[in-house]
Amino acid sequence: MTESIAVPHLPTARGCPFAPPDGLADIREKNPITRAVFEGGEEAWLFTGYQEVRDLLRDQRFSVRIPRSVHTRDEQPPRPGRGSLLWQDPPTHTADRRLLAKEFTVRRMQSLQPRIQRIVDEHLDRIASLPQPVDLVAEFATPVPSMVISSLFDVPVEQLDAFQDAAAEMMRVDVEPEAVQAAAGRIMFALHQLIQAKRAEPGEDLLSALIAADDPEGVVDDTFLVTAAATLLIAAHDTTACMIGLGTALLLDRPDQVALLRADPSLIGNAVEELLRYLTIGQRGAERVALEDVRYGDVKIKAGEQVVAHALAANFDPAFVPEPERFDITRRPSAHMAFGFGPHQCIGQQLARIELQIVFRSLFERFPTLRLAVPVEELPFRHEMVFYGVHELPVEW
Ligand code: HEM
Repeated sequence: MTESIAVPHLPTARGCPFAPPDGLADIREKNPITRAVFEGGEEAWLFTGYQEVRDLLRDQRFSVRIPRSVHTRDEQPPRPGRGSLLWQDPPTHTADRRLLAKEFTVRRMQSLQPRIQRIVDEHLDRIASLPQPVDLVAEFATPVPSMVISSLFDVPVEQLDAFQDAAAEMMRVDVEPEAVQAAAGRIMFALHQLIQAKRAEPGEDLLSALIAADDPEGVVDDTFLVTAAATLLIAAHDTTACMIGLGTALLLDRPDQVALLRADPSLIGNAVEELLRYLTIGQRGAERVALEDVRYGDVKIKAGEQVVAHALAANFDPAFVPEPERFDITRRPSAHMAFGFGPHQCIGQQLARIELQIVFRSLFERFPTLRLAVPVEELPFRHEMVFYGVHELPVEW
């Protein structure tokens, strides 16, 4: 390292609930790559500079197969196999990602737009009929992404309720691990049934397309399909739900920005990019492990050592955006890392963008007087979770 410094603790306490934890900027300024002590007491390498995080996330000398999380100290459970992307390295990751990416076309994602609009409108209609205040997390942010994923898979109406219930149960944070495990089992079973139905009667959906995909290696069997579908479900649900809940909370806290959006609805694309950058809900950063000795300038990382790519810190690097702490939906969209970077960059980002644009536009159009029903400081923020957000969002209008 360029200078010897005391090993800092990764800060997690936020002064402002919408801004990164206090002290993160100091660490980045002093040393964008440093040893750090994480919440669980483990020491590992922490990357906080924009360029440094980008370099790390595309560096194939690092693996996603970490032995245990430096954040939680949890031993990593046995990894799901082919089709799971997030838990795979090359060469299988490259092959499986290619198979899936071919079906994640802009066209397919855009064709979902009318269905997403319908899902959003139906939920807003229901909310309008409820007594106030309404919890937007329970009534909107949680169910909408789950319905959108069901649309991507084209889950038949008669299976929809069972599918939604099992998905919701799997995502709950207030139940015992056994209950989550049982819900995961139910989801796997439901996905398997769905895949068999698609084999018998293919449709226009993503799963039918994967079944019919050109598969030179012959890997796309039922296990692959169930694993891929479950990964998509897990990766798509909580993330999008958190962005909807937290994004709404931030917008309600910044009426000047909502006024800008109202005056010029074409800002919605920019607004969603700025929300993604500013909130970077993957608040702890992605973990990797070095497969060999790696040098970054004066920093020497040994094979087997773990690293954390802190995208939240990187997205607030002034070398990336000027005045990063200013939330400004008129900023020109830039290459933020809320969706990660490199080979594991979010495969669902187009869908997430389309969904978030429809959600925020429709919500503020439908409820022009929408406001928080409690002071912002009283909102239960998800400080303890992998993805940052709000547990509840009571609103009135
Ligand atoms: C706002 C919502 C979302 C956010 C913030 C988000 C964020 C991310 C991030 C940061 C990664 C990279 C993880 C890493 O490098 O370890 C990732 C990967 C992934 N995301 Fe998303 N995501 C979102 C929505 C979605 C949606 C809607 C889908 C699917 C329809 C999806 C599917 C995936 C998958 C399958 C991966 C793994 C890709 C790979 O390993 O090759 N995500 N996402």
